[in-house]
Amino acid sequence: MTNSTPLAEVAPPAGPRKRLFLRSWGCQMNVYDTGRMADVLAPLGYAPVDAPEGADMIILNTCHIREKATDKLFSELGRLRLLKEEKEAKGGGMVLAVAGCVAQAEGAEIVARAPYVDIVLGPQSYHRLPEMVARAGRAAGAVVETEFPVEEKFDHLPDAAAPQGVTAFLTIQEGCDKFCSFCVVPYTRGAEYSRPAAAVLAEARRMVAQGTRELSLLGQNVNAYHGEGPDGAEWGLARLLYALAEIPGIERLRYTTSHPRDMDDALIAAHRDIPAVMPFLHLPVQSGSDRVLEAMNRGHTAEDYLRLVDRLREARPDLALSTDIIAGHPGEKEEDHEATLALIRRVGFASAFSFKYSARPGTPAAGAPYRVDEAAKDRRLQEIQALLIEQQAAFNASLTGRTVPALFTGPGRRPGQLSGRTPWLQPVHAAGDLSLVGRVAPVRILAGQPYSLHGELLHALQQEKNAA
Ligand code: SAH
Ligand code: SF4
Ligand code: F3S
Repeated sequence: MTNSTPLAEVAPPAGPRKRLFLRSWGCQMNVYDTGRMADVLAPLGYAPVDAPEGADMIILNTCHIREKATDKLFSELGRLRLLKEEKEAKGGGMVLAVAGCVAQAEGAEIVARAPYVDIVLGPQSYHRLPEMVARAGRAAGAVVETEFPVEEKFDHLPDAAAPQGVTAFLTIQEGCDKFCSFCVVPYTRGAEYSRPAAAVLAEARRMVAQGTRELSLLGQNVNAYHGEGPDGAEWGLARLLYALAEIPGIERLRYTTSHPRDMDDALIAAHRDIPAVMPFLHLPVQSGSDRVLEAMNRGHTAEDYLRLVDRLREARPDLALSTDIIAGHPGEKEEDHEATLALIRRVGFASAFSFKYSARPGTPAAGAPYRVDEAAKDRRLQEIQALLIEQQAAFNASLTGRTVPALFTGPGRRPGQLSGRTPWLQPVHAAGDLSLVGRVAPVRILAGQPYSLHGELLHALQQEKNAA
């Protein structure tokens, strides 16, 4: 053998790398699921790429929460069909898969409208993807899986996973039994299920070992978490947070989305007692009117919500809140809308999402009388959003001149700049060295703008002073 032996003859040939394009809409849980789909496909040689052109497989992970989702999906599929045909004309192939909540709701209907789709899989079936890909290769028609065995899905998470980054999501609970009048989630994600604490802790340890410093625990009703503890007892979310905070390397913990009804004393105390639990809570209220809250089946009044906010702020005085609001739920009158504005003023939110009510087929509100007309919905939404953005701008501006701990997540948009986030989830930019990525450092805020903060690193200032 000579030195000129080609490498390929010495090393075993690496399998052909297949290009996987993933696109995700909707909530953070879809983002998490998209990552897991990439993980289960990695052993088959699939590696994520940034663009759909030339991909060997495309997965669209869809959301069904508001209308037009289905229309958007089909127009996207129409575009992808051309790419698929182009590839096939050159003798190649492309597996086209539709996943997520539209897949769950529409099932085989998707294939009826778009016969070039190869795989339709509901949110509980992603662990079956490798087998489905194999079946799609053999079968003439599409492969459709929309079963509901949530436990099974989590049991089949692969041990090896791509690093998730400095901040990452971890699903601990899925599904919902609350059946709010307007919402499709109980139908697309099924009954509530909590993962065992040991599985969550193991996954968290693995993520931290790969560089994650901030974990956001996910669930449609995350604070209804009631998983089996390693001791066999049932653990609530508070207990899980205490255990996660013990993992060396975890700097920050968050959880979303919470239901006001499930904020128990232990969880409020966890905000007071666990420094890693960030002083920021997304707590959807949906409406400030008791009449509408009742029609929505939310199970609490506006006053209950305000009392809860007071108790949380007592436990953690620097707590900032965000929320979700729906404008124009069936039966919402002008005085109900005023009550919503009044509640927003009383609380003072640091950020929020607000939506125009969108009728979802099969949900109780979709068939309710007294629809709010579109013009009124639009105006109410505008008024709500104007108030919320004013509050967000005021909150961000209030940080100007203050020093806040920033967790740096990566390079900023400008050269020499770092991007990070504050305890209150605002993006923050400051000049600094990339070696700070993954670390928390104090930043003095120079400008608190409505959508981000700009600041300067304090320890860099200190170094400059020392050098002078
Ligand atoms: N589990 C969370 C919310 C999940 S859906 C909770 O209980 O609050 C995310 C948000 O979408 C909801 O909070 C609600 O504000 C909004 N949303 C859900 N269904 C909607 C609909 N039919 N029309 C408009 N907004 C809706
Ligand atoms: Fe939907 Fe209500 Fe369940 Fe939230 S609590 S996911 S809004 S049904
Ligand atoms: Fe959308 Fe399904 Fe999440 S409907 S918001 S992707 S649970």
